[in-house]
Amino acid sequence: MPAWVVPALAALPLWGFLYLGIFGERPVEGEVAVSGAEVYSRNCASCHGATGGGGVGPPLADGASVDVFPDEADHIEWVKTGSQPFRGQPYGAEGTIATGNMPGFEATLSEEEIQAVVAYERESL
Ligand code: HEC
Repeated sequence: MPAWVVPALAALPLWGFLYLGIFGERPVEGEVAVSGAEVYSRNCASCHGATGGGGVGPPLADGASVDVFPDEADHIEWVKTGSQPFRGQPYGAEGTIATGNMPGFEATLSEEEIQAVVAYERESL
């Protein structure tokens, strides 16, 4: 065995601790601070615009999403379901006819992420 291997092996447990220090500590469920802005820019901005100005999807900025969904629970349901089931039908308080082009996010985003992005759209966009 070359002489350098011995200290390298001796240091292995130390690497183990360093690894745990970096990756081992998971935040406790419920204490995770999910960023609505981050969820928005990853999942919604491509259609609704980086600042909510609209694109493929309608504008959401300046409280537009609150006008459509005065009740936050309806807004949350909408993001989970997407608009496919409403294609050709009116939705929301303004009776807009849905194109069906918004995907649902129930399978890809957690409950916390959906709540965070909805709060972001309602309060910060
Ligand atoms: C692939 C494009 C696309 C993506 C991605 C998308 N949306 Fe939409 N969204 C739409 C379309 C299109 C509509 C209008 C409904 C329709 O035509 O079916 C809409 C409507 C909405 C509305 C209602 C606003 C209104 O004025 O009618 C809200 C709120 C909303 N989206 C939130 C979100 C959120 C939150 C995300 C990300 C988690 C998201 N959307 C991602 C396309 C998208």
